[in-house]
Amino acid sequence: MTAKLLLFLAVLKLTSSDPMPEPEPNVNVNVGVNVNDNNNGKGGLSCVFGDTCYPDGCIIEGTCLLLKCCNGHWKCLGNEPRPGCGKCEAHGDPHMVPYESNTVLYSIVQPGNFTLTQPGFSNPELFGVNINFENCSWPSGSVVSCIRSITYYEPGLIITLELPPPDVDILDKCDQSYAYANGPNCSITLWVNGEVRPTPTGCEADSFTGTDGNVLVFKQKHISKALNLYCIAIVGSKGFSMALCQHSGDFPWFYVYAMPSLKKNPSLLYGLCDVWTGTPPIAPMDYTTRSGTTTTNKDVFVTSWEGALPLPKTS
Ligand SMILES: *[C@@H]1O[C@H](CO)[C@@H](O)[C@H](O)[C@H]1NC(C)=O
Ligand SMILES: *[C@@H]1O[C@H](CO)[C@@H](O)[C@H](O)[C@H]1NC(C)=O
Ligand SMILES: *[C@@H]1O[C@H](CO)[C@@H](O)[C@H](O)[C@H]1NC(C)=O
Repeated sequence: MTAKLLLFLAVLKLTSSDPMPEPEPNVNVNVGVNVNDNNNGKGGLSCVFGDTCYPDGCIIEGTCLLLKCCNGHWKCLGNEPRPGCGKCEAHGDPHMVPYESNTVLYSIVQPGNFTLTQPGFSNPELFGVNINFENCSWPSGSVVSCIRSITYYEPGLIITLELPPPDVDILDKCDQSYAYANGPNCSITLWVNGEVRPTPTGCEADSFTGTDGNVLVFKQKHISKALNLYCIAIVGSKGFSMALCQHSGDFPWFYVYAMPSLKKNPSLLYGLCDVWTGTPPIAPMDYTTRSGTTTTNKDVFVTSWEGALPLPKTS
């Protein structure tokens, strides 16, 4: 099944050499229009996202991370997600903040390949986000788990963002000075359908074509303006956007954003990011396992989501 998804149709490689822009304030997220017009009479080239062609100047629809069509190239608009999007994140070693919480609900202390979020319980689903955790250690020698890679898949595309192996003290390798200088030991590798591709160097997106449309990958500043760090972001055509970010004095972070259309009650989404129903969690937290049952035991919950397919890529 997974192997059949590997059909790689085409790669539209756009140049990406622009410096990081400052976020544009007060973005009007409602200006995107879906018309198949090659230049909208403005003279600029159109851009494709998903299976839709957008005229020059339009802001993308159906995504949480916003991009604007600038004469044939998608450019990111800051790093704040669209209002109303679901947010799941993890930082540290790693402390998970699921969709329905704005605080850490549990930490993961085991290595493995896990489902982060997907629409349903099958392994795999039609699209989703998986993550690979590996053992890593604090300078004190205590073993925790670190984010090694994050994988987004949809029909015809498997895209992984991979960090260096956390086999030695990742705090030294990925500290702020190295990260800001894009140091070789803390760079993020981009894999598309099993092949290494150049990691985007700016906010202008590279575009990869799957069976259902185009998916975008670009570099953005970390959402925390206090940090001179960067993230590599993926915007899928099915309503998920995500970013893998370097972090200062700590382990890497990831963010997954889900479009408001994916919020349902009962939930459409399941995985380590847990459900997204719009109902605040009540303590003690009920987590939903891969078998569809709920549990207050976070180890049972976490283990149930192990063994995710497709496997996150590591070199
Ligand atoms: C996770 O997947 C990778 C393949 O990318 C594999 O090498 C690794 O052994 C897997 N980890 C576990 C704990 O199964
Ligand atoms: C990860 O660390 C734990 C605790 O030290 C150890 O038991 C386990 O074998 C390690 N797993 C891997 C895949 O290295
Ligand atoms: C990268 O790692 C190697 C081996 O661990 C080390 O010798 C080198 O100094 C590191 N470079 C940077 C820029 O951190």
